[in-house]
Amino acid sequence: MSDPKKLFIKTYGCQMNVYDSERMAEALGGQGYVETQSVEDADMILLNTCHIREKAAEKVYSELGRFKGLKAAKPDLKIGVAGCVAQAEGEEIMRRQPLVDLVVGPQSYHRLPELEAKARAGEKALDTDFPEEDKFEKLKSRPKAKRGPTAFLTVQEGCDKFCAFCVVPYTRGAEVSRPADRILREANELVERGVREITLLGQNVNAYHGAGPNGDMTLAGLIWELDKIDGLERIRFTTSHPNDMSDDLIEAHGTCAKLMPYLHLPVQAGSDKILKRMNRSHTAESYLRLIERIRAARPDILMSGDFIVGFPEETEADFQATLDLVEEVRYGYAYSFKYSTRPGTPAAERAQVDPAEADDRLHRLQAVITRHQREIQDSMVGREVSVLFEKPGRLPGQMVGKSEYLHAVHVQDSGLEAGQITRVRIVASGANSLAGERV
Ligand code: 5AD
Ligand code: SF4
Repeated sequence: MSDPKKLFIKTYGCQMNVYDSERMAEALGGQGYVETQSVEDADMILLNTCHIREKAAEKVYSELGRFKGLKAAKPDLKIGVAGCVAQAEGEEIMRRQPLVDLVVGPQSYHRLPELEAKARAGEKALDTDFPEEDKFEKLKSRPKAKRGPTAFLTVQEGCDKFCAFCVVPYTRGAEVSRPADRILREANELVERGVREITLLGQNVNAYHGAGPNGDMTLAGLIWELDKIDGLERIRFTTSHPNDMSDDLIEAHGTCAKLMPYLHLPVQAGSDKILKRMNRSHTAESYLRLIERIRAARPDILMSGDFIVGFPEETEADFQATLDLVEEVRYGYAYSFKYSTRPGTPAAERAQVDPAEADDRLHRLQAVITRHQREIQDSMVGREVSVLFEKPGRLPGQMVGKSEYLHAVHVQDSGLEAGQITRVRIVASGANSLAGERV
């Protein structure tokens, strides 16, 4: 038998891409590929790209240019582009970079085996359709090998919200939810393979409304079904939109013990004028009231968020409103970005904020966020948390894992194993992690 072909996948962007890359590797496993960490060894290089950041496509082109030498040395090497840049650029990729053999958009990954065969036969293979069928159902199922204690599981894809700055509705398409039975089957398989924590993924995960046994199910309904799986100890979900934070989901945060006290709920800005121009369809006040209700259900919940500064027409007073909102919420984690134009989105056509001014605002916002993050992390010292251990730490005999609040915690204890959940007392707060002792 010939040696297996080697696949090198490089993943950019969000957790959904991480999940997709795993599934693509499994699908190509059926075509005789094994994964390699070395690009030089590869028979196929696949870039799973992200379009959310500035000049995303240009970065992909320059990355592709670096493979010229490899392809010259190994003419059989196949090069593919997947993900949101593949969707956005389509055929243009092969035109601009002829060494690319395969382009596949996020909704067509189940067609990867056929596309790979076509590329092997020396043809150009392209698929950026939005087909009707459920790609995850059509993708080869995960091999049954043991795996780490945490996993992602995509339950919903796409977005119908059309925020004025965002490319997701164009690259990932309309909002679609996977049927509940398929998700539960996949979750059970993951647990059989050693997974103890599942993070449900979706661009608008809390808008989930997949088919269930008695009509459509909400995300809370799905969480309660997952709650019944023995051996599954922790459930998380990301990313949510404030307008889809339904009553049953808020309530689940107070009553479902497996649902972790952490919520990523992007607001983007604190000024109602800007929120309106962003097409967010909520106000700063409605967002703050929502957080009050979530905190009433689960007082210790750790909030996380996303922010954009320097959105077109943002004044200093608008920016101050963002700072005020951040002061009021106090996020445990928050990701902040300087607005940058995405061709084809409505905000791209508008009057842009002076870049130096936007830089200055970003630094000021990040200073406040970092202060809160620090204070919240430091306030864990002396408290008892539960930690799901994932892997050995840097020092001998050390294990690292995550608390319920998603803080990284390391413990010096040679008796600990990956997959174990233990009570830990936090004794110190470091740069990016907490130190604890087993209780
Ligand atoms: N410019 C800056 N940030 C953006 N995001 C999305 N589109 C843009 C853009 N054009 C940010 C949002 C979103 C996060 C994933 O990326 O804050 O929540
Ligand atoms: Fe993009 Fe999220 Fe807005 Fe959808 S809700 S358009 S994914 S920022």
